[in-house]
Amino acid sequence: MSLRSLLHGETFHPVVGPMAEARELHVGQSRLVERARETGRLVVWDVGLGAAANAVAVLESLAGTECRVELHSFDHSLAPLEFAVQNADALGYLVPWRDSAAELVAGGRVVAGGVEWFFHPGDFRAQVASPPAPAPHAILYDPYSPAANPGMWSLEHFTRLRAVLSEPCTLTSYSRSTAVRVTLALAGFHVGQGTATGEKDQTTVAATDRKLLAAPLGVEWLGRVRRSTRATPLRDNAQPGPISDADFTALAAQFPGSGVAQ
Ligand SMILES: C[S@@+](CC[C@H](N)C(=O)[O-])C[C@H]1O[C@@H](n2cnc3c(N)ncnc32)[C@H](O)[C@@H]1O
Repeated sequence: MSLRSLLHGETFHPVVGPMAEARELHVGQSRLVERARETGRLVVWDVGLGAAANAVAVLESLAGTECRVELHSFDHSLAPLEFAVQNADALGYLVPWRDSAAELVAGGRVVAGGVEWFFHPGDFRAQVASPPAPAPHAILYDPYSPAANPGMWSLEHFTRLRAVLSEPCTLTSYSRSTAVRVTLALAGFHVGQGTATGEKDQTTVAATDRKLLAAPLGVEWLGRVRRSTRATPLRDNAQPGPISDADFTALAAQFPGSGVAQ
């Protein structure tokens, strides 16, 4: 069973269902378990808590670990989680965590399987410049698509987000759009190809450090950007179109071997 937002006209985790996408796309690709073991401490930002499938995947994989794990969920609405708590039996995945989720809804904080889980209400775009949580090691980025929610995918927003990432950090996302990848790169992220899921043949992983990426985009990707009719970075109020020469030069400068000085 999937949940659908009537407001945004989008289904949470379409096609493969919530837990497969949460486990593979977000938890698996962020290498949360391995990185928690390596560092002994892990801070995860769950951007777009929704009905908590991604949060549950984090709890499942890290509950009972010796490491100190903080999970910070952001959303401007608790309605999807309240609905999921009330319908946990039908949804299935939330059953083991129903009481924890209900406590999170009631008080904004709960310890679940040893993981400290916090909820931060409000518009993430307004919170990002001065975040109410420690710098993350992984961001599970799931706030609807750029078409439905452009403000969460803009160059201005990602530039503010990148500026507060003081720890080595990954950002996993369902999008595979060239414009999103260009935008993340111009905001200062290294960008890589992510695994296939549902109807998508690939997704996107971004990171503060190229070494965190399993499949970083190479210089050959620049040819696709040049040819694309929709590669312009997603600036606030910008229209889709081909990338400008100035943006392409700035992008290419980030790729060793592109012939543009870094
Ligand atoms: C696709 S749903 C998330 C699904 C969720 N990750 C899950 O596992 O069930 C998108 C969520 O992002 C939230 N969202 C969208 N824009 C937001 C914003 N600017 N600030 C905070 N939350 C936002 C929506 O309220 C919605 O609950």
